[in-house]
Formats: sequence, C-alpha cells, structure tokens
Amino acid sequence: MDHFRYQDGELWCERVRVAELAERFGTPLYIYSAQTIRDHFGRFVEAFAPVRPAVRYALKAAGNTHLVRLLASLGAGADVVSIGELERAWMAGVPMGSITFAGVGKTEAELRAALDGSHSPLRGTALAARHAPGPVERRGSVGWCNAESEQELQRLERIASELGLIARAALRVNPNVDAQTHRFTTTGLSENKFGVDIERAPEIFGRFAGSPSLRLAGLHVHIGSPVYRHEPFVRAAEALSAAASLLAAGGHAIEILNLGGGWGADYTTGQSLWARDYAAQLLPILRPWADLGVEIAFEPGRTIVGNAGLLVTRVQYVKAGRARTFAVCDAGMHTLLRPSLYEAFHFIWPARVRAEHVPVRREPAPDLPGLAPCDVVGPVCESADLLAQQRPLPPIAQDDLLAVFTAGAYGMSMSSNYNDHGRPAEVLVEGGRVRCIRRRDTLAGLFEPEFDVETTP
Ligand code: LLP
Repeated sequence: MDHFRYQDGELWCERVRVAELAERFGTPLYIYSAQTIRDHFGRFVEAFAPVRPAVRYALKAAGNTHLVRLLASLGAGADVVSIGELERAWMAGVPMGSITFAGVGKTEAELRAALDGSHSPLRGTALAARHAPGPVERRGSVGWCNAESEQELQRLERIASELGLIARAALRVNPNVDAQTHRFTTTGLSENKFGVDIERAPEIFGRFAGSPSLRLAGLHVHIGSPVYRHEPFVRAAEALSAAASLLAAGGHAIEILNLGGGWGADYTTGQSLWARDYAAQLLPILRPWADLGVEIAFEPGRTIVGNAGLLVTRVQYVKAGRARTFAVCDAGMHTLLRPSLYEAFHFIWPARVRAEHVPVRREPAPDLPGLAPCDVVGPVCESADLLAQQRPLPPIAQDDLLAVFTAGAYGMSMSSNYNDHGRPAEVLVEGGRVRCIRRRDTLAGLFEPEFDVETTP
C-alpha cells in the first residue's frame, strides 16, 4: 500500500525514521515516499495497459516540481488547471505536448501562454534562466486544452488564429452522473459548473468543424473526487463512449477520450478500489476506441500521491477541557484543510508508540487497549481548525510527534499562510536518501510583496 511502517514502535518512511526527519527539518513537515509514488503510478499504468493509457498526473493534488519531475521520469504527463500549474509542469521537465490544460475559467493570458511560450510569465525571469529545461519561447503548445464552454472555445480559436497556430481541444462534457462523493467534490451533475451538457456535444462540434485555427479532437469527463465505487465511472465512460460514437457517425474525427481523475486513495485500509478494479470494469468500454487508435487519457492525482505523503506535527500543548481533551498541534487547517473543509478522515497516530499501540489498521477507532478520545487541533483562531475530533488515541504528551497519514494529495497544495503561519517544508525520501524539496516559508519571504510596493493607482 505505502512505505510508512512501524518498526519497534517507531514510524519509518522507507529506510528513514520519521522522528529524525522532524528533528532535522522541523514541524509541521510533509514527507513523501518516492517508492510509494513509483508503485502507485506503475500500478495505474499496468492496470490500463491494454488501452496504452496517456496518464496526465493532476498537479493540483501535489505540485512540488520535484514530485512532478519524478513522475515525468516514469512517463507521466501533466493535467494542469492554471498557468501556475502549467509553468510548474514545464519547469519540472514535462514536455508541453504531454500537458493537458483544464480548468473552468482559463483567462486570455493563460491560453496565450499555453499556446505560445513567448507569452509565458516566466519569460525573462532569473528562475527560468537557471532552471528551465529549455528556452521558454520555443517550447511549443500544450497537447490539448480541456474546454469547458463554447465561449472558451471561441476565445481559444481567436487566440490561436492571432498567433497563427492551430489549437487542439477536447470538450468537457457533463454526463449528469452522481459520483456519490462529498457535495463539494462532485463535478458531474447538471447543477455543477463543469463542462457542457453531454447532449450538446454534436451541436458544438458542428459549430467548430472546419475551423482553420481550432481542432476539436475529443471528449473529456471528470465526475468527482474521490469516487470509491466503480458504477459512476462506468456510467460516465458509457456516456462518453456513446457521445463519441454519435460524433464519429456525424463525421467528426475522435482522437482523444479523456476519463479524468477521481480514482481513490486508501485513507483506511480496504476502503479504496485499486486501479485494476476500476480497469476491470472500464476496459471493455475503452478498448474498442483504443483499438481504433484513439488516445485514452486519465488524470489521476490522489491515487498516485495520496498515500505517498505524511504530515508530521508536534504537539505544543495538551489541554484537558471540561468536555474534551485537546492536543494542540503546530499543524492545522492552514497545513491540511481537508478535515475542516470536507470533514475528511485522516488516520493520525503518534510517531513513537509502545508495543501495544502499534496500529494494525488505519481505522477511525482501532481496537487497542488504553486509548482515550482526543481532539487534534491546530493553532489557528477558528473552531473549524481541527485535524480530528473525538479520536481514540494512545496517551499524548506535550512535544510528542503525531503523524497524519494519506496527506500526500490535497495537503500541501491546499495549505495557506492564514494567521501568518509559514507553509511547511517538504522532503522526499528514496530508500535511505533524504532530499529537502521545498524549504519552509520564511517570514521575510512572506512580507516581501508588501514592501517597496509601487504607489501607482
Ligand atoms: N481532473 C479534473 C478535471 C479534476 O477536477 C480533478 C480534481 C482531477 C482530475 C484529479 O482528481 P483526483 O484523481 O486527484 O481525485 N480538494 C479535494 C479534491 C478536489 C479535486 C478537484 N479536482 C480533496 O481534498 O478531496
């Protein structure tokens, strides 16, 4: 599953002790296991091998350039949703042709940079001069854009025409399928802002057929995240396949079918379907298209990096209130927002435990002796600032280290500087080797944009 294990009561990431990393790099700290990323990516590609999947890793899950570089070295492309993510993917060495540009609100400037590197905000910067994989103005266009509306397609067509290029796009369709996940992360229902109603695909393809600067080359669907059952995926894939058949019958060339993301991660052992379980259901639908030469794309994020990341936090105070006991930590909603925003479950456990408290499963209420309910909270001035409520835990003392598991996806990427806390450092562990891949924010770095500000109106 992943490479975070207890041995003699100590939590290890691959061949490194988590406590040693916390001492060396401070807390809160995000720790990633390279081997877990390799395993999960490999498993995904293998499961869908019969359709030669184009796996575009969704940077929004965890965008650190070193993680993206690792994935790129394994053959992953990138799914990006802003010019920021696009530039990150390119800086990390993902070829532009393997980048898919998605997102419901792409601006004029974003589309311009996606099509032509001379419009990249990195052009002429010292950072690009030192670290870019090549000259930014010669990097070419993204593989395709996942377009979310007719107006976006018109904008894309116009910009491509101004630049003297042909833009490639896949139309994101909304199949009105319930992903059966949290309402904040459901995207495939008609009431959601994403995509266009699937019935409208033929009309929209017809409208752009023969355009000299826009090639509408395929369809995209993404119904939500995480989706733990295969039925919603099957329904979405069937809808996509039916729409593609209709378009092909109408004379439109279908080159891309993009199934999106939403593949689960294992927050509690046994909860998630693995890639091969999804694949068993989906391959019969996708294979005929792959056999026709259609590119079958996926945009997984969570399933690749979710279990590959651990958040380590140090308990600052233990406070026994009238109703509850609080472990006040240096991580909170500013470090990991998921429990506050979605009431998401993350397994939390001390990084050092006595033999009888070594957890067997990462479940909400382990059947172990001597546990007591505890609210694990952060330092932020909000009652929503919590990592867990009434969670049975072994005895917790001041200065203990707590590990928050399955924090690799949507952990660091959704963290903030709220209450002027610096964002954490990130380290990548490969066997016994440790690399700091992001230093902790400094206060000078945080304040800098507010000083020497030009006083133009
Ligand atoms: N493709 C599209 C179009 C997406 O909107 C998303 C996620 C993905 C791919 C990647 O989904 P994944 O494979 O990682 O499930 N912040 C929430 C998740 C929001 C997901 C947004 N879109 C969370 O922490 O659970």
